[in-house]
Amino acid sequence: MSKAIFVLAAIMNGFVLSAKAQTSPPQEPFRWGAASAAYQVEGAFNADNKGRSIWDVYLDDDHLAGPGISGDVAINFYDREQYLKDIALLKKMGLNSYRFSISWPRIMPDGLGPANPAAIAHYRQFITDLKDAGIKPMLTLYHWDMPASLAAAGGWENRASIDWFQRYAEVVFANFADQVELFVLVNEPSIERDLKTAAEEKMAGGKGDLVLLPDLAHLAVSLKTYNHILLACAAAKKSFDARGYKGRLGLAVPLLPPLTVANASASDIAAAKFGDGVLNRWFLDAMFKGTYPADILAFAKERKLDTDIRPEDAATIHAAHFDFLGINYYAPAFFRHPKEARDPAAAEAFTPEGIDKAFNGAVRPDVFKALLDRIRIEYGNPTVYITENGAGFPGEDQLVDGTVHDVRRCRYIVQHVAAMQQAIAAGADVRGYHVWSSHDNLEWFSGYGSRFGLIYVDFDTQQRTPKQSAEVYGRLTRGENLSPDVCSK
Ligand code: FCB
Repeated sequence: MSKAIFVLAAIMNGFVLSAKAQTSPPQEPFRWGAASAAYQVEGAFNADNKGRSIWDVYLDDDHLAGPGISGDVAINFYDREQYLKDIALLKKMGLNSYRFSISWPRIMPDGLGPANPAAIAHYRQFITDLKDAGIKPMLTLYHWDMPASLAAAGGWENRASIDWFQRYAEVVFANFADQVELFVLVNEPSIERDLKTAAEEKMAGGKGDLVLLPDLAHLAVSLKTYNHILLACAAAKKSFDARGYKGRLGLAVPLLPPLTVANASASDIAAAKFGDGVLNRWFLDAMFKGTYPADILAFAKERKLDTDIRPEDAATIHAAHFDFLGINYYAPAFFRHPKEARDPAAAEAFTPEGIDKAFNGAVRPDVFKALLDRIRIEYGNPTVYITENGAGFPGEDQLVDGTVHDVRRCRYIVQHVAAMQQAIAAGADVRGYHVWSSHDNLEWFSGYGSRFGLIYVDFDTQQRTPKQSAEVYGRLTRGENLSPDVCSK
């Protein structure tokens, strides 16, 4: 964008903003929260008639996280006695929002059949308990635990998944719309697909490392999956609106701002544009512009990829008018053209050597600020909730004399909150921030070794210990302006 156009866009944005400010109802207080997901925390794998999910299959049957590692117990969060103690810790931290997911195979054990009253009663009680502590729920309908029966029928690769999800969502809305204002329909479609690709490779005897940007062999199935998930969310939103429920609905999208290294070639730069197209613009353009990125569609067409995308799909997604964008931000993605690739259009994501990095990539709060600026400027300043942001560092979380000095996580959070606040000061409509995660928990195929929590969990005793980051995050939620130097040994 030329400087002049940029300035014009900024001015127009300002106009729209001030026009909106006069008419819109008073905003709720900023949501300071933390997040978790059912399979990663609940345990109670067969309580209350729960059906099996694909993750029970991956970890219990196929041992894809290693022998004996699964979510059967996790951090015992389905247990009321336990979670009441956890809610007390969250309250002590000053949180007024908690993002959690409910399990589709608990609510509908076979995926499609009748709703399970025991599971509904459990989650209703959980929400009441949260609210009694002054914490508002942010309910995620789907954080990857596809009912095993539906996974066996093709999961999101099957276009029928749009109807499956809509049916499930209707049950959720009918049972929770009176208690919940914010619903996150699905979590991270692209990363879920990457994990499935890794699972398939592991089951075929390969290493099954997570590949962020699908390679050419998996591009068709990835685009197909993303499209079905977006359409499923649009169908759910339509049902919600048609029944006149009060509440706001969005998706949690993992955004991976594209970077290249300093000495990048033209084909590396093209790889970054492609990576941005598949992982970021694909979702944002459909939701906020009603089109899929022309460069990615042309690429798929040239290669005759079977993506099951119909001409009207992106417009259908746009027409759903999602109420907010949930952003999961951890790190940028570095892209390059792989040296050995003969295909000039090949692209891959990688992590450069010698940079400051956490489990999920480079530590770059400056990129977080730039991402929020981009969303404001290129996508019409939608309402945003940060649905996940956080970090884990190898070996950092050691419980010594009853405390955990997680200095690097603490600094990460202070720096990213500051970056977000700068973006808000520049006009971004960000209304909440959720740390991933409230607790150490089961990190998918990495098992229990990759800790991300504000609260340390001893997985043998279920003993909880708030870390230094929890104490500092508590000060941020109470409005203190802190420098990363507060995080120290
Ligand atoms: C995100 C997932 C979440 C957790 C964090 C570390 O991609 O949404 O479940 O695994 O990463």
